[in-house]
Amino acid sequence: MRLDRYLSNRGIGTRKEVKKLIKQGRVIVNDKVVQKPDYKLSKNDVVKLDGKVVDLPDKVYILFYKPAGYVTSTKDPHAETIMEFLPPIKGIFPVGRLDKDAEGLLLVTNDGQLAHRIISPKWSVEKEYIVRVDGEITENKLEKLTKGVILKDGFFAKAKFVERLSSDTLRMVITEGKYHQVKRMTAAVGLRTIRLKRVRIGNLILPEDMKPGEYRFLTEEEVKTIFEEKN
Ligand code: URA
Repeated sequence: MRLDRYLSNRGIGTRKEVKKLIKQGRVIVNDKVVQKPDYKLSKNDVVKLDGKVVDLPDKVYILFYKPAGYVTSTKDPHAETIMEFLPPIKGIFPVGRLDKDAEGLLLVTNDGQLAHRIISPKWSVEKEYIVRVDGEITENKLEKLTKGVILKDGFFAKAKFVERLSSDTLRMVITEGKYHQVKRMTAAVGLRTIRLKRVRIGNLILPEDMKPGEYRFLTEEEVKTIFEEKN
């Protein structure tokens, strides 16, 4: 793996930031200063930054822009999974699911407690989606979505917030994460979802300049803010 990628994968900084550190001569590989960001590391190389060994933190948190067309799973014998975009870190898994045809913000971690905190209905963490639909978006349908609709399995699903962004697009916030929930809710009011993008989980926002398939590491501090109440 390239030296700049290795450092960035360990949460040291963005590729641009770590390239600067490398060029400044602050990075040592096996006791030799290496100033080339594209230096190829071998398996047992020891990398130090400012004299300290760069190790993987125990917990990793990855903000990932899931592209449509990939399964949200660590393994699937029949389909391509999101894991092919992510660094090969043992024990990481996606928090919750986005359908194969859906895209957008997905958190990937090896922190089971955090995953539980996000998924558990007890905490009502908000998930915000931009939903393109087929069908006429009327005030009445929006009202039904916020008052609640009964899905085919009997689940009573309610949008915490919904607004019309254009003639065929909605913004919808939900706090549960039932299977195909957004698609089933829109279908219940006669709107077929044709494109679904998650743009927020709690306070964590999909960066506008991120492209499908890209990811970046979050710090533990950033992770804590996911749950902070905003006034
Ligand atoms: N709701 C859906 O219908 N699909 C998703 O992937 C996420 C929420």
